[in-house]
Amino acid sequence: MCGIVGYIGNKAAKDILLNGLKSLEYRGYDSAGIALLDEGRINVIKSQGKIASLESKINQLQNVTSTSSNKPEKEFNSILQERLVNAINKSNCGIGHTRWATHGKPSDINSHPHLNTAGNIALVHNGIIKNFYEIKRELEEDGVEFISETDTEVVVKFYSKFKDQGLSDIDAFRKVLQRLDGSYAFALINADSQKIILAKNQSPLVIGIGDNENFIASDSATVLEHTEKVIKLKDLQIAELSANDVKLFDLDGNTVKLEVHHMHQVSSVAEKGPYKHFLLKEIHEQPAVISKMLLDAYSVATEPIACFNNLDFKFSQIDKISFVACGSAYHAALVGKYLIELWAKIPVEVNIASEFCSFPVLHGKNNLVIGISQSGETADTIAAIKSAQSAGAKIMAITNKQDSAIFDLAKPNTYVTPAGIEVSVASTKAFTSQVLALYLLAIKAAEDKGLDLIDIKDELHKLPLVIDQVIERADDYHAPFLKYANYRDFLFLSRGVNYPIALEGALKLKELSYIHATGYPSGEMKHGPIAILDQNVPVLSIAIDGASELEHNVYKKTLSNAEEARARMSPSLVIACDSNRDVENIFDEIIRIPNISQFFSPIIATIPLQFLAYYIAEHLGKDVDQPRNLAKSVTVE
Ligand code: G6P
Repeated sequence: MCGIVGYIGNKAAKDILLNGLKSLEYRGYDSAGIALLDEGRINVIKSQGKIASLESKINQLQNVTSTSSNKPEKEFNSILQERLVNAINKSNCGIGHTRWATHGKPSDINSHPHLNTAGNIALVHNGIIKNFYEIKRELEEDGVEFISETDTEVVVKFYSKFKDQGLSDIDAFRKVLQRLDGSYAFALINADSQKIILAKNQSPLVIGIGDNENFIASDSATVLEHTEKVIKLKDLQIAELSANDVKLFDLDGNTVKLEVHHMHQVSSVAEKGPYKHFLLKEIHEQPAVISKMLLDAYSVATEPIACFNNLDFKFSQIDKISFVACGSAYHAALVGKYLIELWAKIPVEVNIASEFCSFPVLHGKNNLVIGISQSGETADTIAAIKSAQSAGAKIMAITNKQDSAIFDLAKPNTYVTPAGIEVSVASTKAFTSQVLALYLLAIKAAEDKGLDLIDIKDELHKLPLVIDQVIERADDYHAPFLKYANYRDFLFLSRGVNYPIALEGALKLKELSYIHATGYPSGEMKHGPIAILDQNVPVLSIAIDGASELEHNVYKKTLSNAEEARARMSPSLVIACDSNRDVENIFDEIIRIPNISQFFSPIIATIPLQFLAYYIAEHLGKDVDQPRNLAKSVTVE
């Protein structure tokens, strides 16, 4: 992950870099730093923690120098600090970085930008260099010393070696890149030249072209704050930016033609409004998102589904569907498998994207591989899609970001969930919109095969009303959930279409509150997890009945498994519908949702679990929107 920014022009670089870093903070927030070029010197300021701590370090520096008039203070203000402050105030060329730690713990030393030994070259990096130890050893044999644990410091010192041999900026960079094995988006400044050098492989990097100024960032939304003219750097391209010029090269040093896209500036700024946290706001946005998706899909049940008209194939041609996804998107895919097999009768497998590439690839042209990704940038999902693509499979993407790598890879077979910007790192509205997209896709697949699903479409149109009702109960959930805030372990159980919701509920609790929680298929509990059960391990079950035999059997067995947990003294909770009386003798805590049948319940059952995680995290004083160690866009494998 990590986010990188850069600016070269005639404005104060510091403000542009800090604002850019704030909009990239979803990519990691272990530390942040900037390097500013001023009077032929590179000045670096960096700080462990979020951008706010970097900003306050910069403010402190400015204040100390500007208010210092007496002698001791003057002494305190070293020459270095004065230079730093000058650079902060005057520099109009710089690079910045917000870090999600891969190599080396979060610390000031491991923060980017990293410098070469002479301190005249600074580099920021998003990605992982797999062969950095090998290069580090070689450099150490030449007497080079390292102060950080990062792969990035190795790269900047490696680059410096080629510069010392007299190579040009671009040729030295080419030499470095030819040797590297791994993923990277790099931005580099060199004290000797008023330029920014960039390169990318697998990690995203875009250039924004302004009037006598140029911008770089890890995502286009950040540069779109300044300009609508955008160049998306391609893998293994190198760019050289000055204030009024952009040059592009391939790894052999050949000039590459610039492809400038005119992109629409969409606001990337989300406000919390009356909510204390983005997560809470995003939970409350779900009814509107779900309504919109359904309205866009079909207005009456007799109409065919309209939201997948861009697909260049019919599901009647597809023999097998494989989903590839990570995190919450993987849980959505598991719901999708259930629905597609139930309604469209097409075999479906679901793969954790990072595992997909670890297995032999067996895909042909009648296999459809669908990547699901909120960000559209998850490295594991990109790698899985690419490997399926090269094995000849048909590719499709479901993503929340139109302008993303996964969207581009799958074009024209794409569906963009209209969840809007999701700021909170833990997914809520993006997840439920993915689940609904898969309901719609299952219906579309069935329609392509000539199957009639009018009743199902009628039923699905009732969802917006029910989701409104469940969100209105938010306050009712508060007190019952807080009773469980001090447990250290949780088990979440369900079966069938709600088994993935048990996984999602456990993931939300873990992500937000750092309480250990595991989701299991109810029936699997007796094969191991039951050993950990006692009065200290609450077990939450999702038990929703339905009219069909399949639904009713699943429901009955879920209750039996909950009884087994209760017999081991576990505090027991259940998500159950209003009219369900069976649960009253079994569970300590009954969390009621409006009546809904099992097949249509995953989205509704998710909502109280989002509140469970939120209320407990908030009660424990955790950082709800930016939980420790996580990042919203995970661009390393
Ligand atoms: C990270 C996020 C999760 C997300 C997962 C997949 O781990 O913290 O919330 O589900 O990535 O992200 P994607 O953007 O591919 O859906």
